[in-house]
Amino acid sequence: MKIISNPLELKEYLKDIDKSVGFVPTMGALHEGHLSLIKKARKENELVVVSIFVNPTQFLKGEDLDKYPRKDEADKKICLLAGVDVLFFPHKKDIYGDDEAKIEAPNVRGYVLEGATRVGHFSGVLTVVMKLLNIVSPTRAYFGKKDAQQLNLIGLMVKQFFMSVEIVAVDTLRESDGLAMSSRNIYLSSEQRVEALKISLSLQKAFGMVNQNILDVSKIKEQMRTVLEPLEVSYVEVLNRDFAPIESIELKNSIILVEAKVGDTRLLDNIWL
Ligand code: PAJ
Repeated sequence: MKIISNPLELKEYLKDIDKSVGFVPTMGALHEGHLSLIKKARKENELVVVSIFVNPTQFLKGEDLDKYPRKDEADKKICLLAGVDVLFFPHKKDIYGDDEAKIEAPNVRGYVLEGATRVGHFSGVLTVVMKLLNIVSPTRAYFGKKDAQQLNLIGLMVKQFFMSVEIVAVDTLRESDGLAMSSRNIYLSSEQRVEALKISLSLQKAFGMVNQNILDVSKIKEQMRTVLEPLEVSYVEVLNRDFAPIESIELKNSIILVEAKVGDTRLLDNIWL
């Protein structure tokens, strides 16, 4: 496995490689969820590139940038064992200068849900993803459905900027008890870990209702909020796959999204129906 930190060196290395390239951008502290993206990329491409970069521009002031988990050595091992060909591990100065052009998240989709609780977050995400995609120029890039809004906005950017990459959406990987895997789960105490299960339980409740043909979104949201009590809920929302709100579940075209705080930790989860 090659480890490269300089973007121009990576571009130079990839320039003459005549192979399909699968790219998995991450912020490290890799877990099984990341690994499922890497495995899919490994299966579908001849060469796999993973990036690890804790991107400062997507963290708001007061957020967990400084304490975001960093596990560089363990991450390198995981990538090596997963058959990654190139690990891109840039420093901040390799990616950002002083006076920077940036991608601005779209006014509506970029500023609802997580974009409303974290104003400006998605501009930081889109800016770094644009940079990373330009550095790697992959055939396919892999993103988790767990971050549904991020996935949607990246898909939109790729389309609107006429970029030549296929965005592949990967299902959410969960712990055996249902908690969606996340690098931030390590912030949870054992009591909070139990409380956090209310998030996936609320989605299971919604899934059960839909199976009983209860498709009324307001009824579903109400029941979900009951399951989520007493967590501090940022939002419970039901959208179609174009990210527009809907009043009744449209099968194969709906996403139910939850963001709730457990202690100081914001957790996201969703199901695609
Ligand atoms: P990070 O949180 O490290 O996640 C990297 C990728 O792994 C994202 O596409 C995310 O959706 C996916 N992922 C996280 N948890 C998952 C799970 N339980 N199951 C499946 N996939 C999961 O998302 C980011 O980093 C950053 O915003 C990034 C896109 C790298 C830009 O900085």
